[in-house]
Amino acid sequence: MRSHYGGELNSSHIGQTVTLCGWVHRRRDHGGVIFLDMRDRGGLIQIVIDPDTPEAFAEADRSRTEYVLQLEGRVRERYAGTENSSMPTGMIEVLAKKLTVLATADTPPFPLNDDFANVGEEVRLKYRFLDLRRPEMLERFQFRSQVTSKIRQYLDRHQFLDVETPVLTRATPEGARDYLVPSRTHSGAFFALPQSPQLFKQLLMVAGFDRYYQIAKCFRDEDLRADRQPEFTQIDIETSFMTDEQIMDLAEGMARELFSDLMHIDFPTFPRMTYDEAIRRFGSDKPDLRIPLELVDIADLVKDVSFKVFSGPAQDPRGRVVALRLPGGAEKLTRGQIDEYTRYVSIWGAKGLAYIKVNDLSAGIEGLQSPIVKHMEPVVMDILTRVQAENGDLIFFGADRAKVVNDAMGALRIRLGHDLNLLTTTWAPLWVVDFPMFEETDEGKWTSCHHPFTMPRCELEVLTQNPGAAKSVAYDMVLNGTEIGGGSLRIYNVDMQKAVFRALGIGEEEAQEKFGFLLDALRYGAPPHGGLAFGLDRLIMLMTGSSSIRDVIAFPKTKTAECLMTQAPAPVDARQLRELGIKLREKAE
Ligand code: AMO
Ligand code: AMP
Repeated sequence: MRSHYGGELNSSHIGQTVTLCGWVHRRRDHGGVIFLDMRDRGGLIQIVIDPDTPEAFAEADRSRTEYVLQLEGRVRERYAGTENSSMPTGMIEVLAKKLTVLATADTPPFPLNDDFANVGEEVRLKYRFLDLRRPEMLERFQFRSQVTSKIRQYLDRHQFLDVETPVLTRATPEGARDYLVPSRTHSGAFFALPQSPQLFKQLLMVAGFDRYYQIAKCFRDEDLRADRQPEFTQIDIETSFMTDEQIMDLAEGMARELFSDLMHIDFPTFPRMTYDEAIRRFGSDKPDLRIPLELVDIADLVKDVSFKVFSGPAQDPRGRVVALRLPGGAEKLTRGQIDEYTRYVSIWGAKGLAYIKVNDLSAGIEGLQSPIVKHMEPVVMDILTRVQAENGDLIFFGADRAKVVNDAMGALRIRLGHDLNLLTTTWAPLWVVDFPMFEETDEGKWTSCHHPFTMPRCELEVLTQNPGAAKSVAYDMVLNGTEIGGGSLRIYNVDMQKAVFRALGIGEEEAQEKFGFLLDALRYGAPPHGGLAFGLDRLIMLMTGSSSIRDVIAFPKTKTAECLMTQAPAPVDARQLRELGIKLREKAE
């Protein structure tokens, strides 16, 4: 039906007759001549229709925004003075001789041309097929397609096999809730949608496939945020007979190639930072290294002060007390802004946000302005020395359980970095390594920091006797404060795997019931293996500068995990439920 994409025409086509198909983006009537900006996958092109082609003119005359047209015409140079340098095709236009309306269109619920601004996300998601017509959206998906193509090329070049793993499967523990699918043929039994292909990819290594990858859909029923969706895509990778260093090099090589080929950005070798250091300096295991602010521990200095808010956590082995120095902050922040930040840190459970304004260091305590110095006189100057305070600085303090301090002060650090434009670079990738094997839950149980198949960096005895101290051979790739990928070496020895299950409180019987196939496989010659998975949506979000992964997923779900367009999830009819042997009941409070 067409010879070219209109948006891809340029001056080299001048004089040619072309046939185009597309949508009316904008229509202007200029006293007898009609101008249409027509949009197709290639972009926009200006079409001119003269009254001396009356049939085409009549069709153009009845065309409205979003009508679908087919036209034939000649490419010509625009008249001097009418060029549009902001449009790639702005030097040319097509004089249509024939024009047919292929489909009419109702007035769209929101404008798709330049008038698109402040359109609510709900209406965009409900009419996603229209939202996706906007050139900005199309560009993101064209870019996403280039990224996956490059990834396949890179992995193909490194001898990886693309293998599909099942979507109807058993629970795959990655720490979120499962999406369940009832089985009709096995009444009362359920499939779980995979939270990741983790166990299958390990089994492919036992099978001897050596190098596997898959661009895989994963499903997690968890609280949603800007960088989380209930179904999302991983670039899932597993290898045999490679060290953690080799796997990281391979993954880093891929990330570096993507940025270099598609964005002309050349990253230096990614720095590596241990988990412990990341938490200590930035309060986060995914530090945003673009922001030049750090947490400084001061528990040893304040453990004996009369101010219980500080001395309490300082003496508690699970507590933490830190200072965060904001250079020049005394002048930059008003009292009202400090109050706003105090409210902000309370989101993470912080009970307050103490601060000191350093007006004049030479005047000692008299040169400070703060609600807390009177409680801490004997140690205030030592604290200022430790954080290397200078006149004009503002020092914030956090004191609480370590988790609260890390979360709250880590978030404050990021917020200050953005609010005060402190970013020192555009891109800051790094590896965070040496994660703990386990984290303690609020109920005092151990859970996996990554997943239960991660190889510990210690002997079996240490793991059983002091699980809290065990480190793992796990690594996360972090970019600008977002975890874009993570993985580990895996356990390939049955006894170690059983010991990890035991540490997690998974009994012999339950382990056999849920993971018997894995334990079996480990008995039949399992190779040393390991891998990682990138979050594709997050990667694309960062590369395209989008503020949410919803903008890089064609048909995303809302924050409450529904699809506004198809209205899924939806009730099903009684017969279907009967077939499945399911009877609904009131949801428990
Ligand atoms: P993990 O759970 O860290 O590891 O997931 C890997 C990467 O997937 C992305 N990601 C998400 N993206 C969007 N929405 C979500 N809800 C979401 N959850 C995770 C993140 C993350 O870094 N099987 C292991 C990998 C391995 O060990 O090889 C796994 O799934 O970018
Ligand atoms: P108060 O004695 O409760 O008035 O607190 C004095 C100062 O300490 C105020 O600036 C509070 O915001 C701050 N503050 C209170 N609790 C904490 C805490 N857990 N961590 C840091 N600062 C706090």
